[in-house]
Amino acid sequence: MAGRWLASLEDEARHVLPPGVHEYYRQGSGTSTAAAEAVDAWARFRVVPRVFVDVREVTTASALLGTPASMPVGIAPTTLQRAADRDAEVAMARAAATAGVPLVLSSNASASFEDIAATGATWWLQAYLPQEREVLRPCLDAAVSAGATAIVLTVDTPVVASKLDGGGPSVLSVVPPRWLRTNLGDAADAPKAQDLGPADIGWLREVTGLPVVVKGVLHPEDAIVAVDAGAAAVWVSNHGGRQLGCAIATADALGAVVTAVAQRVPVFVDGGVRDGLSALVALALGADSVFLGRLPLYALAVGGTAGVVRALEELSGELVEALKLAGCPDTASVRDLVLHER
Ligand code: FNR
Repeated sequence: MAGRWLASLEDEARHVLPPGVHEYYRQGSGTSTAAAEAVDAWARFRVVPRVFVDVREVTTASALLGTPASMPVGIAPTTLQRAADRDAEVAMARAAATAGVPLVLSSNASASFEDIAATGATWWLQAYLPQEREVLRPCLDAAVSAGATAIVLTVDTPVVASKLDGGGPSVLSVVPPRWLRTNLGDAADAPKAQDLGPADIGWLREVTGLPVVVKGVLHPEDAIVAVDAGAAAVWVSNHGGRQLGCAIATADALGAVVTAVAQRVPVFVDGGVRDGLSALVALALGADSVFLGRLPLYALAVGGTAGVVRALEELSGELVEALKLAGCPDTASVRDLVLHER
């Protein structure tokens, strides 16, 4: 039955993945508070549905940074996909191409930019800036040559947060670090910048000539700084609860960021979205698009490309049903829904 499989994905992934890999995907940072709260944070919102709306023809069609998409959904960057599937990010990209949604490629990916491009997917490169910015330039140049259509600058990772829960076997026992050098080369060893500022957004735009999305914003004033500095979109994220362990849930941060950005650029959101109803709530709170991290990662582990396609299809089916029941003929009209917070 639709939805059941989607809901069982994390459990299924637990069965097929080596314990260290499953733990790596699942865990949050610190005591995992932010990671644990993410899913339930969406479930606190209630929608006031509209009736007397013709919902015979409902469409989820959307556009992300100007590129048409089948729904306002994208695949968030997650590292170490090769630990879930032999074809790694290429398998994920094939699913993105089939489902008609963009893929954000982690800069820690083990598949080459050319192989990602060959799938025909719309893809954006996620980047962390190193302390010495220029060290990343060859990687950025290669991404541009291979056809990346945007850069996603992750700004919430001055250091990689400690992961205290779990304590199982390390993911590095199954994942050789050389995988991470595929596209990064020497930049893989470079310390991350701890002095990111608005000028870095301009620098990235200049170097790549591509739109720059700023990922990892939770404070409305930071969203305004990013937009003023030329960000093409602001991405509300707490990194799946993997950076500041007590960070606010994205469901709680989203509304204020949407208000601050005031439709100057699109607002994206991720964190704990596992089904169509959460996506509906995110859109109703004002997000233009919703990104999925662990959901496609678990689907990749369970069923490879076909698994990710199925997960995206089920999510799309749930979203269509939710749109009909809420009285919204398209995803843009979701923004007008009234929400109540419990
Ligand atoms: C991530 N995330 C992430 N983000 C990023 O900007 N670069 C990266 O390389 C990674 N790697 C990564 C690995 C794993 C295993 C996870 C679970 C997450 C964060 C990711 O892009 C996204 O923000 C969250 O995963 C969204 O939360 P959900 O959908 O996983 O709940």
